[in-house]
Amino acid sequence: MRQSSLVVVANRLPLDDNAARDGACEWRRSPGGLASALRSILEQTPATWVGWGGGIGPARQLPDVGPLRLRPVALTADELQGYYEGFANSTLWPLYHDAVEPPVFDRGWWETYRAVNRRFAEAAAESAEPGAAVWVQDYHLQLVPQLLRELRPDLLIGFFLHVPFPPPELFMQLPRRTELLRGMLGADLVGFQRPQAAHNVAQLAAKLLGTQGADDAILLDGRVVRTGAFPVSIDVPEMTALAAQPSVRSHAHQLRQDLGPHKRVVLSVDRLDYTKGIEHRLTAYSELLRDGRIKVRDVVMVQVAVPSRERVENYRGLRDRIEREVGRINGEYGRVGEPAIHYLNQPFDRADLAALYQTADVMVVTPLRDGMNLVAKEYVAARAEDTGALVLSEFAGAAAELEDAFQVNPHDVDGLKETLLRALDADPADLARRMHAMREHITEHDIHAWAGDYLTSLDHSGGLARVLPRP
Ligand code: ADP
Ligand code: G6P
Repeated sequence: MRQSSLVVVANRLPLDDNAARDGACEWRRSPGGLASALRSILEQTPATWVGWGGGIGPARQLPDVGPLRLRPVALTADELQGYYEGFANSTLWPLYHDAVEPPVFDRGWWETYRAVNRRFAEAAAESAEPGAAVWVQDYHLQLVPQLLRELRPDLLIGFFLHVPFPPPELFMQLPRRTELLRGMLGADLVGFQRPQAAHNVAQLAAKLLGTQGADDAILLDGRVVRTGAFPVSIDVPEMTALAAQPSVRSHAHQLRQDLGPHKRVVLSVDRLDYTKGIEHRLTAYSELLRDGRIKVRDVVMVQVAVPSRERVENYRGLRDRIEREVGRINGEYGRVGEPAIHYLNQPFDRADLAALYQTADVMVVTPLRDGMNLVAKEYVAARAEDTGALVLSEFAGAAAELEDAFQVNPHDVDGLKETLLRALDADPADLARRMHAMREHITEHDIHAWAGDYLTSLDHSGGLARVLPRP
């Protein structure tokens, strides 16, 4: 077994079984913030990525991607159901997102979650050279830090949560709250998107584990567990360069022609997830059409909703409701050859997304709760001419950084309608000022800065951060 000085452990590998069926290994970007963020930094890094390859049954060996080794972890059909669809995505995901859908507490799922976490911890332990750093990612693997520490006390262990950490009163609903908290605090450094999360964890640790400490350091079992906020970001130079490519420009031009050259284009791009506020947004848009405040001849909406977690009941129900609503809106307000909304339930490659971002006069990112939301940052990176408006939910982690967006409470449909109109009617000089300020911010705080900050904080010697590619 080859070993690395840096091991990243995430539920998903950035490559799935289908992509490698013919033996050729190519990056297939799975939609989702975690894979987008990590891919940018790891594909040029001598490290090992431990993760699930997306299928069921024995794991197939995967070839290296440049200097990066891929170490697949196998899941059976029962494990996929109990661990991924069950505990991770039907219990933790809704609970961590303000319980916007009720979390399901199924006693059978916990044992599977723990067994799969143990398998990930064992794979990480085998892949790490003596004294290596292991960086565990997200809510699927919250027990891995502690399990790994038991297996390999020599390792430096980091944990980063890409989703929000809930307020204590919600976390306290979890039947296995103490084990989950202790599992995560097995790390040397626990990173979150927002400082509030570290505060919540410190409070819970004091209550459930009797720890002492502050928002940035918790004393547990004679060890200091450091915590802090490290807002994740995107590869800004990559998206900016992509958006400037002549082929992307001409694709954007063609899209505009197809959508109606004189119309203003309103765009949303989400995984099809109930946290993304798609239904609230459709209600607001449809009411603006109903009230005659926007007209199909002047404005067109494009909603990209990439399929996600389709075997989980809540997601199937959501898709049915959204598709019915889009059909209703087009039926009531569309004209022949002129739909009110273009609905695209499919994955796109990066160049196509960049072309869509280029086409959008108003980008609407209105999750009910989101750890960060990288789509908002991608839109800003793609608007090098300082045009376009970003409407952004106050409940996305990105709102703390993109202060010049048109911020909105997505639960308030009337406020959402007014904000959409404000963005559509905004003065170009105001838009340019806002976009410029937001681009300056993300240029300074891009994905390389995120990984560098986290790894420097994990390993004060600075040795780890030097493993990363230079931006
Ligand atoms: P989440 O992590 O909850 O999915 P983010 O907005 O943080 O939300 O990240 C979504 C990522 O998935 C972005 O990098 C975005 O470009 C990508 N993505 C979204 N929709 C699609 C799509 N239809 N095809 C391909 N990638 C997509
Ligand atoms: C969010 C989560 C990630 C997850 C992604 C896509 O970004 O934080 O951990 O990978 O959604 O979801 P999926 O279930 O397809 O991996």
